[in-house]
Amino acid sequence: MKKQFIIANWKSNKTGKETQEWLEEFTVHSSLLREDTIVIVCPPFPLLPAVSHYFMQHHENLAVGSQDISPFPEGSYTGAVSGKLLHEFATYAIIGHSERRNYFHENTEELAKKVALALSCGITPVYCISEKGEKIPQGVQIVAYEPITAIGSGSPEDPAAVEAVASFIKQKNSVVYVLYGGSITPENVNQYTSLPSIHGVLVGGASLSSSTFAEIIHHA
Ligand code: PGA
Repeated sequence: MKKQFIIANWKSNKTGKETQEWLEEFTVHSSLLREDTIVIVCPPFPLLPAVSHYFMQHHENLAVGSQDISPFPEGSYTGAVSGKLLHEFATYAIIGHSERRNYFHENTEELAKKVALALSCGITPVYCISEKGEKIPQGVQIVAYEPITAIGSGSPEDPAAVEAVASFIKQKNSVVYVLYGGSITPENVNQYTSLPSIHGVLVGGASLSSSTFAEIIHHA
């Protein structure tokens, strides 16, 4: 069976109370979890401890990820969250999401530092790219291909085009898993997870409702 990753990227959404509600509702659906599927929830930084604590008690295939990581080690870097600290709560980190590149001006050089930092702290990077030719830093095993026009637009990329890009990425890099992200819903997820070169999905908007996210897992 093909191993796959279903990742929830909550972005800058949810309060502590909303997170508790999401988790409680999600547990009802935890019988949907399958052995071949790793479900990773990536909440904002302050919610990582709550999600991590809850998941540890519930299922071994549930994991926690951060949405970013500092490019620096721990030290005098005001406002940054170090990999060493993140590692207490998260086993994955999304790095290079197009919103980070766009709104926070992160460039390839900084992203390579983030990847190196994550790896040195035992955190697995999920490296996002929006074009097939984008440089992928050394050591990255999981790449999420997310075309800009597909993110949050309700217009997902054509599955055949996604397959072509995913197989190209695998040929050119030592990447093990390529995921697709951009307007994933319970209705369309299987069109992507059934592609031979795709090993899962990165879900934004549709992950904010636990029942919709559970449906995505069910149909993946
Ligand atoms: P979307 O976001 O599912 O809301 O399109 C995906 C992402 O930005 O990772």
